Amino acid sequence: MRKLTGALLASAIAATPVMADPVDDTLILNEEITLVTRTEAPEHVADVLGEIISGWHFRGTETRAMQADDFDNPGMIFVEQAEEVWNTAEGSEGKSCASCHGASEDMAGVRPVYPKWNEAAGEVRTLEMQINDCRENQMGADKWKYTGGDMVNMTALIASVSRGMPVNVAIDGPAQSTWEAGKELYYTRTGQLEMACSSCHEANYGNMIRADHLSQGHINGFPTYRLKNTKLNAVHARFKGCVRDTRAETFSPGSPEFVALELYVASRGNGLAVEGPSVRN
Ligand code: HEC
Ligand code: HEC
Repeated sequence: MRKLTGALLASAIAATPVMADPVDDTLILNEEITLVTRTEAPEHVADVLGEIISGWHFRGTETRAMQADDFDNPGMIFVEQAEEVWNTAEGSEGKSCASCHGASEDMAGVRPVYPKWNEAAGEVRTLEMQINDCRENQMGADKWKYTGGDMVNMTALIASVSRGMPVNVAIDGPAQSTWEAGKELYYTRTGQLEMACSSCHEANYGNMIRADHLSQGHINGFPTYRLKNTKLNAVHARFKGCVRDTRAETFSPGSPEFVALELYVASRGNGLAVEGPSVRN
């Protein structure tokens, strides 16, 4: 059993911490594909985690069941909405996503490798950055708000066609310095509570924090449909919420800091299946 460390952290975690093992269960999507939801940690985190475990294992029976069937997964309604947008021409060039990319299914394999280094732009790009680049420079359309409805729906569509494929972001070569910046942020204690991401998701996963069962904080399930706010939630919106919980100043969605953090957090889950849109509480 993992031990709580630090009085401040202990005070943030429920009065009597309770340890509950991640649920032993198998995620079979639509009775067809078995998703990898726990596997050996990738080499670059093997010193701190033996096994990487999807957040799915830390949720209740009903929540887990909802995600296993597309008819029960409320996130799939937004995927359908995005499918319409995918096929609708917009902007000065009179083009839709489909005009250049074909069917949305042709995006299979894209989600698992993002954030990804873009050679021409000389930057690490999240899926959101790439989509807005296409809107602005390929379609002549307005950018979408980084964590707005249109954007999160489109990322859900693009994730959905890669469900079952292993997350596999590159952390070396030109992406390495961004990855290192993200790692630094992951382990930096901030806020009145002096907590880092690692304080909760590495040192205390399995413990209960208030009514919540703490997971390892992976992002293979994003965007996630949360029962709490009944909508799809983007990765950077979740980061923002978690940083706020430590009573620290937070970075903005789409900021270089959150892009770097996303690359690092994604890499901790290299090997887990893409689940987006997942269902969480
Ligand atoms: C006029 C053609 C065009 C349109 C329209 C267009 N794109 Fe793109 N898209 C491209 C090109 C070209 C690239 C490769 C860009 C690069 O590598 O810098 C790309 C790359 C992408 C990628 C990354 C693929 C990968 O393998 O890394 C995604 C995701 C994407 N587009 C999504 C969209 C979405 C969503 C829309 C509609 C909102 C859209 N695109 C509209 C031309 C287009
Ligand atoms: C005070 C403890 C705490 C800290 C610190 C914290 N989180 Fe969280 N986080 C939570 C709780 C509670 C949840 C909801 C239960 C769960 O999935 O673990 C959560 C959920 C998440 C999830 C969603 C996981 C899923 O499967 O849907 C991600 C991703 C995440 N956190 C990332 C981070 C990152 C990155 C940081 C650092 C910036 C961070 N968290 C800091 C408590 C924390």
